[in-house]
Amino acid sequence: MSTPKSLLRTTNVHKNYKLIAEVGAGTYGRVYKAKHLKHDKFVALKKIEMTNKHITDGFPITTIREIKILAMVSHPNIIRLLEVVVSKPSILNDYKSSYFLVFEYMEHDFAGLVYRLKLSLPQIKGIMHQILSGLKYLHDTRIIHRDLKSANLLFNNKGEVKIADFGLGRLMSNQPEILYSHHVVTLNYRAPELLLGAKDYSTSIDMWSMGCIFAELLINEILFKGDKEPRLLEQIYKICGSPDTSVWANCDKLRYWQQLKPNDFIPRRLNTYISEHCKVIEDEVNMSLTLDLIGQMLCYDPKKRICATQALQHQWFSTVPLPAQQSDLPKMADEYHISIPTHMKKIEDIEKSKLQKIEDDKLNLSNYTKLFIKGT
Ligand SMILES: Nc1ncnc2c1ncn2[C@@H]1O[C@H](COP(=O)(O)OP(=O)(O)O)[C@@H](O)[C@H]1O
Ligand SMILES: [Mg+2]
Repeated sequence: MSTPKSLLRTTNVHKNYKLIAEVGAGTYGRVYKAKHLKHDKFVALKKIEMTNKHITDGFPITTIREIKILAMVSHPNIIRLLEVVVSKPSILNDYKSSYFLVFEYMEHDFAGLVYRLKLSLPQIKGIMHQILSGLKYLHDTRIIHRDLKSANLLFNNKGEVKIADFGLGRLMSNQPEILYSHHVVTLNYRAPELLLGAKDYSTSIDMWSMGCIFAELLINEILFKGDKEPRLLEQIYKICGSPDTSVWANCDKLRYWQQLKPNDFIPRRLNTYISEHCKVIEDEVNMSLTLDLIGQMLCYDPKKRICATQALQHQWFSTVPLPAQQSDLPKMADEYHISIPTHMKKIEDIEKSKLQKIEDDKLNLSNYTKLFIKGT
């Protein structure tokens, strides 16, 4: 696999980009819509806030991961990182550098969109096919995303769906015994093995998240909600039933099993729950195929859980109605992103203090320097 250095082309950002609107406030920085003046194209500028937390050599570890992974990948369903720019410390920015990742611009994310749109079954199939194609590519490249959720799935008016936000992504080690951190993946989409303390997880954690995303597209709400691990597991047990060693080998060996295992027997009612809440499927054949596919994604045993390649070959995709082409996916005049719920914030609507922040960003951008990232 190549190193990221070829990606790190830098240009004079101040002359090249005009900030237009704030479209997202992420975990580690703000995301702006901007225009590349020369190319007359929109881009997203993700500003990396420099804090004292999560820093390696003055640079957030999540950003280093994100750049490193994005520099390795190239797929139509993975967001494209165009360049990385960094401002030079100067009197204008209080001698603090600002870093920006420049991405192709996407009009929406699914968290901003999913509750507003009534998607048809072929559209859901088309969207799922695109996400799974991106995910198959990642997994074939031995990359685990670890934070798949609707807010990290971007959508544009050309009907393209792209996986974004690789801040938690990581390359799988060749050594099977390597232990990873289990504090990954936004809680609602987190696989049960992570909630129960597994450290030797693999790409199958992304497939559990896919099952949650699939459900969200079908029922227009988050399937499992919980702000703490025990509460979320309770929700999972309620819908997916109480796991035991008969469905999930060695689940009783997981670190937090004794504290967090189900107290009583609960039958699995995923099928009933989805069919009662899903309004888009009218025929029995498609309903039973849908339930089969989602059931294989939300399978307790990570070893038995369906992988992206198998999911793409599932009969659900080859049964009529077939997946919608990109040209048949919805196009909207407004732009929707998770943290901007009603409509995208235009620069002139943003309160003065934020405007000042954007002005500061502009100043920072005017004084850039070349960024070199060494392998991490
Ligand atoms: N390329 C992009 N085009 C348009 N909006 C984007 C783009 N990248 C991110 N966003 C918006 O910004 C939000 C936060 O970005 P993200 O990369 O997920 O950062 P974080 O790691 O902080 O969650 C996303 O949920 C999305 O709404
Ligand atoms: Mg995100």
